[in-house]
Amino acid sequence: MPSSIASASDAKVITLVQQKGGSGKSTLAVNLAAVSGQNNPPAQADAPCPVVAAGIDRQGSLEDWSARVPEDRLPFDYVVTKGKLGEIPDLVQDPDVRRIFVDTPGFMETDPDAPMDADPLGSGNTAKAMEEVLEVTNLAVVPLTPEFLTHRPAEFTIERVLKPRKVPFLVVINMWDSGNDRERDGVRPELEKLRKWCRDRGYPFAATAIRRYKIHSKAPEDGLTVIQYPESGTSLRAREDFYKLALTIEQAL
Ligand SMILES: Nc1ncnc2c1ncn2[C@@H]1O[C@H](COP(=O)(O)OP(=O)(O)OP(=O)(O)O)[C@@H](O)[C@H]1O
Ligand SMILES: [Mg+2]
Repeated sequence: MPSSIASASDAKVITLVQQKGGSGKSTLAVNLAAVSGQNNPPAQADAPCPVVAAGIDRQGSLEDWSARVPEDRLPFDYVVTKGKLGEIPDLVQDPDVRRIFVDTPGFMETDPDAPMDADPLGSGNTAKAMEEVLEVTNLAVVPLTPEFLTHRPAEFTIERVLKPRKVPFLVVINMWDSGNDRERDGVRPELEKLRKWCRDRGYPFAATAIRRYKIHSKAPEDGLTVIQYPESGTSLRAREDFYKLALTIEQAL
């Protein structure tokens, strides 16, 4: 197989997970799948894509977005389980599939009064779907944004959902407003604050922060992923972040 990903073992599963809605799970899932798909095209023109983006999100963000990208420009296959069980474990076993990027929903309907040792995912349908995905996840990616309100849910996700299941994880700083984070004494104060938040807790984080760019928020409507962005100006910088992050993730697998 002339793919740059060796095909000896099961597919690797990268799951975007963060209790807080709007932190960038869908944005990261789609764009990371796009970069991975571009780097790992099908062996022949009619062969299936080795990269799959999967959504267990009932909101269907992944489907709404992927369906808008013209089929000949979409470098991955996508699957939307809508909570149906068994599909992602089956994909892991599929010999044609090498990487699966899973978009998950925010999970706010947890019981805030549940005892610390209880499983905060509960036992509903979404919980079962999450459970199933986490069981086969090789790397959980947890987006953290400068917005203070995403911090506690990120910690909750790591401490209460990922650590008890021994799921390896990586925090990714997203929506960094680099233009307004002026360098002082050789550091960018906002970025440094987020990195310190990770260090204080012993959380591994990606060296590349995903900057906030308007092109990212318009991309779903425009039917674009980062690999189709123009290679100039801010679009180039916006896509660069994802190329770097994709490398970091491959190294972490
Ligand atoms: N780096 C970025 N720059 C600009 N806009 C971004 C960036 N990342 C995400 N966004 C925008 O922020 C909004 C929320 O992102 P997204 O939908 O990916 O979050 P989510 O975690 O999947 O949310 P939910 O939990 O509701 O599914 C979207 O409008 C998206 O386009
Ligand atoms: Mg989403």
